[in-house]
Amino acid sequence: MKVAIIGTGYVGITTGVCLGWLGHDVTCVDTDDGKIESLRAGVAPIYEPGLGELLTQVAGRLHFTTSYVDAIPRSQVVFIAVGTPPTADGSPNLQYLSAAAQSIGANLDGEFTVVVNKSTVPIGSGNWVESIIREADEKGRGSGRRGERFAVASNPEFLREGTALHDSLYPDRIVIGADHARALEMMYTLYRPLLEQSFAPPSFLPRPDALGAVPLVATDLASAELIKYAANAFLALKISYINEISQLAGKVGADVSLVANGIGLDARIGRRFLQAGIGWGGSCFGKDTAALVSTAADYGLAMPIVSAAREVNRRQRERVVERLLSELKILKGKIIGLLGLAFKPNTDDLRDAPALDIARALVARGARVRVHDPVAMDRARREHPQLEVSYCAEPEEIAAQADALILVTEWPQYRDLNWARMASAMNSAVILDGRHWLDATALASAGFRAFRL
Ligand code: UGA
Repeated sequence: MKVAIIGTGYVGITTGVCLGWLGHDVTCVDTDDGKIESLRAGVAPIYEPGLGELLTQVAGRLHFTTSYVDAIPRSQVVFIAVGTPPTADGSPNLQYLSAAAQSIGANLDGEFTVVVNKSTVPIGSGNWVESIIREADEKGRGSGRRGERFAVASNPEFLREGTALHDSLYPDRIVIGADHARALEMMYTLYRPLLEQSFAPPSFLPRPDALGAVPLVATDLASAELIKYAANAFLALKISYINEISQLAGKVGADVSLVANGIGLDARIGRRFLQAGIGWGGSCFGKDTAALVSTAADYGLAMPIVSAAREVNRRQRERVVERLLSELKILKGKIIGLLGLAFKPNTDDLRDAPALDIARALVARGARVRVHDPVAMDRARREHPQLEVSYCAEPEEIAAQADALILVTEWPQYRDLNWARMASAMNSAVILDGRHWLDATALASAGFRAFRL
């Protein structure tokens, strides 16, 4: 099928590359000339494992343009995957969504087109986008071509940064919200190779053994939109729940990892997203839980469970500093090293990254902060020029004369650092494992006084 994708951020470019891999002809549109130029040269705009490789392999089926005229009239399916960044009051900024809808409406050619909301948009956006497209289409139409020209569908995205290709090619489910039978039928045709898992996997991304056909969840528009928020909020509250249990575990002398395993093996609960620690960051959980609470408030509803999950998560960052203070007694003048800046491993994304809040809080208390991250340091220098930290090229460098280390992001390469050498280079060999992830025995035998959140 012929597909257009508006926006080449995380969701847009991953969707484009994966649909290209399935054999579709994809045109990616972005208003940013620089981004389009580098994509044409085969350079991925984000750090995402495997993306560059797949981009090269599907190059023949991927086109890049800044022009809607080049993309929309030729496409049967148009995905909107523009950013909806939070505004000052936490509500999503919908200006890019509205601009995309207008430009799509102004360029429809009369062949039936499905316009798909892929961005995480407030509930009700499907209808709103439809009205913007309709107005722009009617304005441009003049001569009065008739018939059903388009329908809007919602197809929420469930990919995680760092494993975006895997999540897109081997999803747990595909959700399509459409109030229009023809739109649903076209989306089914588009996703058939994914639903049936009939495509040949990329060599570096084999299909998981247990994966059979992927379930399709077909719903109305509003249900699909709510599924996205409800899924993210549920994952977020799982994390906050285990972090709350972790606090009690600390008091009673229990090991929260064992507790997580013990409850997670109950199939009704599940083991995933029960990793205790500093808590969630990134562009999704914070924004989406805030949006859910605010949408509910518009209808006079409180969401005490989701609100509590947000509060537990906010407190985790403060607790890092409190825990360190109670270990070191004084933070003023102390050298603290942070291992990891990105909000999670395998990404350079720093949106709502706990490391930034923790670094700022330590600096505010007079500590000198050193940081290391395998991929996110350039981005941190660029995006956070005010951050008063010293960047270290190697993780070992942050240890020299340091008073404590904090593991903030569980990058795999941190697991096997030369802990003994680091401990001996430190002023006091103290480490806070903020992700409950390092080998406590190895740290102890290297001479560390190690503790967890
Ligand atoms: C999340 C969802 O997992 C995706 O399904 C969804 O598509 C995406 O948001 C989105 O809405 O776009 P993402 O934010 O990329 O994906 O990353 P996650 O792997 O979910 O991690 C989010 C945060 O939770 C990270 O800071 C991670 O360190 C933290 N986390 C995760 C924990 O603290 N404990 C866990 O057990 C799992």
